[in-house]
Amino acid sequence: APAVLYDNHGRPLEYVRVAVTDRCNLRCFYCMPAEGIEYMPKNALLSYEEMERVVGILAGLGVRKVRLTGGEPFVRRDLVPFMDRLSRIPGISDISLTTNGVLTAPHIPELVRLGIRSVNLSLDTLDRARFLRITRRDELPRVLDTLHALLATNIAVKINAVVMDGQNIEDLIPLAELTRELPVDVRFIEEMPFNGGSHGAIALPWNHVRIREHLRGAFPGLHALPTPAGATATAYAIPGHVGQLGIIAAYSRTFCGTCNRIRLTAEGGLKTCLYDQGVLDVRTLLRAGSSDDEVRAALMHAFRHRAADGFEAERQRPVHQLSFESMSTIGG
Ligand code: GTP
Ligand code: 5AD
Ligand code: SF4
Repeated sequence: APAVLYDNHGRPLEYVRVAVTDRCNLRCFYCMPAEGIEYMPKNALLSYEEMERVVGILAGLGVRKVRLTGGEPFVRRDLVPFMDRLSRIPGISDISLTTNGVLTAPHIPELVRLGIRSVNLSLDTLDRARFLRITRRDELPRVLDTLHALLATNIAVKINAVVMDGQNIEDLIPLAELTRELPVDVRFIEEMPFNGGSHGAIALPWNHVRIREHLRGAFPGLHALPTPAGATATAYAIPGHVGQLGIIAAYSRTFCGTCNRIRLTAEGGLKTCLYDQGVLDVRTLLRAGSSDDEVRAALMHAFRHRAADGFEAERQRPVHQLSFESMSTIGG
């Protein structure tokens, strides 16, 4: 295996997140306005061939994990053959998905066949009316079908719930209760300001400390587990529960010191931090006929000039305003 590349702050490059589409079949208010975002024309998106090429070059730099993200990655056609090709790239040993789960259930046998390691499922509430209010679509039944079908496989399942003041606070304990009987990781996420302009910056009334104390109120035995380097979530166990809890300080950014990942946005922008504005236009580089060596050199240069943390990345933006980006284009 190739030596791992380290950035200018001593952090390894192990993991690439690829947003396969900017489209989404939900309209979560923390991600986009009700009317949706303006979708890019198809040729503005990286093709599967282009994504495969970049992942191949990254694998040569030591990357071993790829997470495909949406919205719902399955809104893009022919995702499974693409995943199959990714799984054949030497060095790529972990392919995972993050999805809203609306279209996933029918594909689960194929995911099992491909050896997909983990699926992270966005699910902010177990209540159908609140699901409709948050996502503006009545799709809770299909998401729950996906959850239960995944739990019947060997694929590791994590639930991602964004914690939103005034929206789903009454759901936190019921979601956490799922861990009592089910082998699932339920992770609570601080809301971030990438909402496609649906609302401005957020005050973060529910930060990771408050989320933890709220959970501890219902589960006094809650205790932290060791956190592996590069993890977004602080993991927690409740005695007697089969599954685990996690809290992701996505806005407080407590985990930047071991951040091991980069991302490719749907239109082929490279982000070396979720909070940067995109530091390299990979699509243009590819379409200019660059050789693999040239692409590799540009990726290495970008990774060796990374912001120390999300706060610094945010400060380096020309406009101190994140909220016009939508998470569905970035992929989370
Ligand atoms: P694993 O591969 O299972 O560890 O998943 P993950 O937590 O890396 O990714 P997932 O797609 O499930 O994202 C969970 C939440 O963490 C989402 O809200 C992401 O936007 C957020 N997140 C993921 N990576 C980063 C990051 O580098 N920085 C910040 N601030 N948030 C992140
Ligand atoms: N803040 C925090 N998390 C978000 N996600 C989408 N938008 C936001 C936001 N504004 C989460 C989704 C998904 C993951 C990729 O990112 O719930 O699980
Ligand atoms: Fe919701 Fe994710 Fe779709 Fe955004 S991309 S609307 S967070 S499901």
